[in-house]
Amino acid sequence: MELEDKIVVITGGTKGLGRAIALSFLENGSKVIVCSHEENRPEDLNKEILWIKADVTKEDEIKNLVEKVVEKFEKLDIWINNAGIWLPHLPIQETDWERAHDLIKVNLFGTVYGSKNALIQMRKQDFGIILNILSTSALDGKVNETAYCSSKFAANGFTKSLMKEVDGKDIKVLAVYPGGMRTNLFDEKKPEKYNEFMDPNEVAFKIIENLKKETPEEELIIKE
Ligand SMILES: NC(=O)c1ccc[n+]([C@@H]2O[C@H](COP(=O)([O-])OP(=O)(O)OC[C@H]3O[C@@H](n4cnc5c(N)ncnc54)[C@H](OP(=O)(O)O)[C@@H]3O)[C@@H](O)[C@H]2O)c1
Repeated sequence: MELEDKIVVITGGTKGLGRAIALSFLENGSKVIVCSHEENRPEDLNKEILWIKADVTKEDEIKNLVEKVVEKFEKLDIWINNAGIWLPHLPIQETDWERAHDLIKVNLFGTVYGSKNALIQMRKQDFGIILNILSTSALDGKVNETAYCSSKFAANGFTKSLMKEVDGKDIKVLAVYPGGMRTNLFDEKKPEKYNEFMDPNEVAFKIIENLKKETPEEELIIKE
């Protein structure tokens, strides 16, 4: 797909992988809109990127985001559900399961609300790509990651079902499963192997290269 002049929305596009993807789209001539749940536009965000406040756990804010984008650009080509949070690795007994509710809210319901409202618009215009950023933690269980893996497995189940439900010629649902990346996700506590994790810019590059293909891979695993 040609990315020039495409209208691209990236949830959680202000940091880490989302920001790296946003900058890659800009380099390819796309118009980029990002959201985050902070009240104000981050000062360090590239001036060419349009920022709109939206908390992905609040469906009315996501609906408003879609409406604002369509009002301004009259269409929506690519919607990337990227916003996500994490919890430090701990055994089940020590995991804070109250906080795990927030994981499910952001990592699952954020993806659900984004996909649903983007799809409503894409069905009106009859084209579009929804791309969900999952994780290798959506593919395999991992020691001391019961909470995070649960949230990503759930988002993966949602995504795979939606792929079958949509199954349209000009509307596609894609999934990306990255391994560990050096991002703000781990600000609270860096995992043991953090220094060996990937640079998010390299992961963003692979995601963009896949989208540029005539037929992008539906499920892209990026480990190294
Ligand atoms: N880093 C890794 O090793 C890794 C590996 C595999 C998959 N992933 C996934 O990749 C995605 C991006 O993560 P990252 O590593 O780039 O993390 P990050 O650097 O912490 O960035 C996360 C982004 O999501 C936003 N966000 C968080 N909660 C939000 C909410 N409720 N509403 C709107 N935006 C929200 C953050 O902005 P604000 O907090 O300012 O709102 C930020 O822009 C996530 O889905 C993550 O699970 C990460």
